[in-house]
Amino acid sequence: MPSTALYTDLSGYYDLMCADINYQEQSAYVRRLHDLLGNKGKDYLDLACGTGPHLRHFIDFGYTATGVDINQPMLDIAQLRCPEAQFTQQDMSHLNMVTQMDLISCFLYSIHYNQSIAALTECIASVHRALKPGGLFCFNAVDKSTIDNRDGIKRQLTHDDSDFSFQSNWYYCGEGDLQQLQLSIERTTNGITEQWRDQHPMVALTFAQLQQLLEPYFEVHIFAHDYQRITPWENSAGNAFFVGIKH
Ligand SMILES: C[S@@+](CC[C@H](N)C(=O)[O-])C[C@H]1O[C@@H](n2cnc3c(N)ncnc32)[C@H](O)[C@@H]1O
Repeated sequence: MPSTALYTDLSGYYDLMCADINYQEQSAYVRRLHDLLGNKGKDYLDLACGTGPHLRHFIDFGYTATGVDINQPMLDIAQLRCPEAQFTQQDMSHLNMVTQMDLISCFLYSIHYNQSIAALTECIASVHRALKPGGLFCFNAVDKSTIDNRDGIKRQLTHDDSDFSFQSNWYYCGEGDLQQLQLSIERTTNGITEQWRDQHPMVALTFAQLQQLLEPYFEVHIFAHDYQRITPWENSAGNAFFVGIKH
């Protein structure tokens, strides 16, 4: 049975796990893309916003911010971090917004939480409806044909008298349109270790497929996965940053 405890029972540890992520840099990168390619408006929506770190930066940049996430415990933390923002608990595969946005983002590969090609297609169509003319859709993605199941990231740290170990890796069996994000979380307090293992089912596809899904709705640009500079994607790289400009 797949578990996503990290976003529910363990949501209080999410920011610890992400302590090494440079949210400021990622937000500044998307803001630059929006300045270059967008419609100059300031209504911003972050899909799968989690605990709201990107929203915080965009509010500080002067945007009016809204966050959508499927898990209320994540939204509760985001609301504390961003009291100025609006939040709604929604599945992004059936996104339903009352007002249209100028910029919609989805960070940290969360677009793959659409759990099938059909769900992703529905998400893309609903993002298109939720954007104003000339609005921008920005997200990063991984190409299933480049996933190496041996690769992973491990982080260890101490917090509140406990030692934590977080491990994450992609798993793709080599066929079909499902991959997994596998996470292992260990907490050791006074010599007693507790362990949780999460398996998050996510949609798997190639960049060629993803481009094909986006093109009926957006002018598509693909950039290198490098938040320090805006450069074109090189065809062989398995991670990339996608930008869609609403037709
Ligand atoms: C890896 S976290 C990313 C959070 C945040 N964007 C960040 O960069 O730290 C993924 C988030 O996606 C949310 N999520 C998972 N499935 C979702 C769905 N179908 N619709 C909306 N949010 C979803 C989870 O609750 C979690 O907060």
